[in-house]
Amino acid sequence: MKVKPAKRTESVSEYYFSHKLRQIDQMRLEGADIINLGIGSPDQSPSENTISRLGEEASKPTSHGYQSYTGIPSLRKAFADWYRKYFNVELDPDSEILPLMGSKEGIMHISMAFVNPGDDILVPNPGYPTYSSVTKLLNGNIVYYELDENNGWHPDINRLEDSDLSRVKIMWVNYPHMPTGASGSMRMFEKLVSFASEHEILLCNDNPYSFILNSDYLSLLSADGAKEIVLELNSLSKSHNMAGWRIGMVAGHSDYINSILKVKSNMDSGMFRALQVAAIEALSNPPSWYDRVNRVYSDRRKVVEEIMNILGCKFDKSQSGLFVWGRIPEEIPDCELFVDEILNKTHVFITPGFIFGSQGNRYIRISLCANEDLLTSAKNRIKEYITKNGFLYPPYPPRGG
Ligand SMILES: Cc1ncc(COP(=O)(O)O)c(C=O)c1O
Repeated sequence: MKVKPAKRTESVSEYYFSHKLRQIDQMRLEGADIINLGIGSPDQSPSENTISRLGEEASKPTSHGYQSYTGIPSLRKAFADWYRKYFNVELDPDSEILPLMGSKEGIMHISMAFVNPGDDILVPNPGYPTYSSVTKLLNGNIVYYELDENNGWHPDINRLEDSDLSRVKIMWVNYPHMPTGASGSMRMFEKLVSFASEHEILLCNDNPYSFILNSDYLSLLSADGAKEIVLELNSLSKSHNMAGWRIGMVAGHSDYINSILKVKSNMDSGMFRALQVAAIEALSNPPSWYDRVNRVYSDRRKVVEEIMNILGCKFDKSQSGLFVWGRIPEEIPDCELFVDEILNKTHVFITPGFIFGSQGNRYIRISLCANEDLLTSAKNRIKEYITKNGFLYPPYPPRGG
């Protein structure tokens, strides 16, 4: 082509799922009936009130113009009420909350507002790949900090203290953690806040999974002194089954919010009013609504745990969030080979842990966003294949042999 894309596009590659889904589409075209247990897109519905409110508001002639860059005041208030009720955090709806189109865009906006080229950015390994891809796009310098199963997938703050922190600008954390399903704790949050305060690091908690299979709602903003140093992202994608609606928020000190607004107000022109009004309705769902959604996930989780057992994978039963994260048997050389064998032989697609970083190399992740019938079919296929053939993967020679 005559026109070259910007250099920054060379720093990121196509998302694993994007090329894997092409392979799956091709297999489907060739007649394969693939069960996709890869992606965490909730398949249950938002509450009925939310959907009817969207329709009512969309049918008003006054709903269709540009909206404020900071969201409608009643949406900011609904987020503040939600944070008070479930997370015990007081936020000023006028200055400490900014509605977003999902939390993913918030990762970009926060980074654009705070990262200068060459700044070090602490990114969890394993972790959501967007923290590193956005950092690369902005010429920040990714510094992975390892999370380990033996430490409950919590950051090793003593080890961080021993490293050179002089150029660190942001530390990304994400509890409840994706992909491992590990929960945070107030003790760890307090330690993180004092660590970040001492080293003047902006601590950003990405918190979209609190409401899924988790009864202890924790916000990093509730730790002592957090307002000075913490930003928190949240989202209706997983908590309210509204991933396609693109509604989220960032909360924190008004100075930080103003810096993010400087970026965001130059990039979009507000969110469709009907979506905002319907989101207010969703945020007032009673606790029983969340319980109903979670009962479905909990039943599905039992089937997924059986799949993990059949595959010989070890997992922690107390994981929260939309996935089960399991450690592959020691004799399997690597997780990508393992999921490819499963896909080719049983037509069930499971996510390999390596896409979340090297600490995920010996793990796989199965999504709970498929109904129980599909999960049971996946389980039966895998079980039948193993019963018939004695193994799922070829008996590889011992490593090093
Ligand atoms: C850890 C984490 N953060 C953020 C997101 C993005 O969520 P949203 O739909 O709110 O942009 C996801 C989605 O998969 C996620 O797993």
